[in-house]
Amino acid sequence: MSAPAFAKLPHPNPVTDDVRAAAIADPMFGRVFTDHMVSIRYNEEKGWHDAQVMPRGPLTLDPATAVLHYAQEIFEGLKAYRLDDGSMALFRPEANAARFNASARRMAMAELPEDMFIAAVKEAVAADAHWFPPVDGGALYLRPFMFASEVFLGVKPAAEYQFLVITSPVGNYFKSGAPAISLWVSEDYTRAAPGGTGAAKCGGNYASSLVAQREAIAKGHDQVVFLDAAESRWIEELGGMNMFFVFDDGSIVTPPLTGTILPGITRDAIITLARDAGLTVREERYAIDQWQADAETGRLTESFACGTAAVVTPVGKVTRGETSFTIGAGGPGQVTGMLKDKLVNIQRGRAADPHGWVTRL
Ligand code: COI
Repeated sequence: MSAPAFAKLPHPNPVTDDVRAAAIADPMFGRVFTDHMVSIRYNEEKGWHDAQVMPRGPLTLDPATAVLHYAQEIFEGLKAYRLDDGSMALFRPEANAARFNASARRMAMAELPEDMFIAAVKEAVAADAHWFPPVDGGALYLRPFMFASEVFLGVKPAAEYQFLVITSPVGNYFKSGAPAISLWVSEDYTRAAPGGTGAAKCGGNYASSLVAQREAIAKGHDQVVFLDAAESRWIEELGGMNMFFVFDDGSIVTPPLTGTILPGITRDAIITLARDAGLTVREERYAIDQWQADAETGRLTESFACGTAAVVTPVGKVTRGETSFTIGAGGPGQVTGMLKDKLVNIQRGRAADPHGWVTRL
């Protein structure tokens, strides 16, 4: 199925240049939104239809709309970058389109043809290309999402869906300005169990992470570390990021994609870039006790989190119950910095793109 033609609805009241300039001067992650959104609807009779680029605004939902009751909702996160030559680019949008459909299958939702997903994202960027924030690390964060829009209280996969893309000018995800983040290990809550929805990017996974994330913040940390549901032993991921561990022999470990972990696109890019740099990367389970022991002996030299929003973020300190341990010198490490630079330079068109990850707009 080819991408639909998008009807372009006029915007009666776009924000003025000075209001926009103030809003994007130093945007907090996910607090500022552009003027437009993209919408495509699905029902069993018409398939995907009614593609529109429209003024961003509230949705009117019947109180019996299925998503409000049974949480059939999935989303993606990707960024558009303004390159040094003034052009714009997306990073691996086809990977987001494919993951979106993997999430749709797990949640028994309609799949959106990948060319439609990519066309919708491109329309969103084109409509609001004047919203790029002029800050270091700034980008347009695109949030494609889909929810069950059928009005029905029976428990079954919905027959109607709405897909939307909204756009948020963003700077750094972590506002603290600290050179490395502090993590808190949740021993009371897990994020995902075998056979569950851990590998799907569905709102429910994030909803279930929030109580633990709130505890982490209340104790003065930036993010929560989730362990596996069966043994509470193996490190899985953070509330919204994948994890990497760097050792003194130059090798790197990241937890494997066992079905309980989000298959991060940044995670995948980092594995590839590390191997390109000649490092050994092992996708294998890593125990929380071992992490602490290795940090204490110095065998482990660095740890970092990664994701579209977080990019590559060094971890400085980890707290487990009453004990804490420091990673390396507690600040950004060399391997972390090298991998971050390689990734960001490709994303921003400052380095060759040997894997064809950058889509110029
Ligand atoms: C992203 O990195 O795009 C996510 O969806 C994670 C969330 C913490 C913002």
